[in-house]
Amino acid sequence: MRFDVVTIFPDFFRGAFEHGIIRRAQAAGLLEVRAHDLRGWAAGKHRQVDDRPFGGGDGMVLKPEPIFAAVESLTGAGEREAYPLGTRVVLLSPQGRVLTQALAGELAQAAAHVVLICGRYEGVDERVAERLVTDEISIGDYVLSGGEPAAVVLVDAVTRLIPGALGSETSAVNESFAQEGGLLDYPHYTRPPEFRGMRVPEELLTGHHAEIARWRAERALEKTERNRPDLLK
Ligand code: ADE
Repeated sequence: MRFDVVTIFPDFFRGAFEHGIIRRAQAAGLLEVRAHDLRGWAAGKHRQVDDRPFGGGDGMVLKPEPIFAAVESLTGAGEREAYPLGTRVVLLSPQGRVLTQALAGELAQAAAHVVLICGRYEGVDERVAERLVTDEISIGDYVLSGGEPAAVVLVDAVTRLIPGALGSETSAVNESFAQEGGLLDYPHYTRPPEFRGMRVPEELLTGHHAEIARWRAERALEKTERNRPDLLK
């Protein structure tokens, strides 16, 4: 799987993909991630990537020409109907559909090449969404100053679902949102059994698998009721 990130802040990604599972997946040849400077595709002496909005208003809007040139050079096509099979062009913006575990799983399964366009909060010329973008994605209902942190989030969430990227093939199924019933994960403990007066729950020390499973199911339900009652509806 290949990710090409198109951004006006390529240095933001320095080190971002050099840790943990993302680094390992690249070393294993399962993944390739590159950050590209949008200015490299901008024309003119000043390599201008943004301009004032038609109709007035605050802030600057990312111009269409450099983004079209970037997508054309990275995919070989200048319109979504002509992309090679398995190619997705994602615009990260607060106007997108919200990233979920299901969407991350779909991308991990169906996409071979993902171009991530990092918008600025003021906006991106709409002709980019109209002609180039296959998926407009938001990472949540809050406004970032740009799509860069969202690109890191998306690469991480998708990469750990690429077959073989996690140590064990099963470790991605048994967690929050992917569990049967869609509950949050249960609490975890490790040694020592007592720390600053806090004891590990006795149920986990018994070795009785059925009792441990029941304890975990109850705590998962409890945590979901407290932190995410919307998941129980
Ligand atoms: N850019 C600004 N806010 C964003 C968000 N919530 N998700 C994705 N990209 C963004």
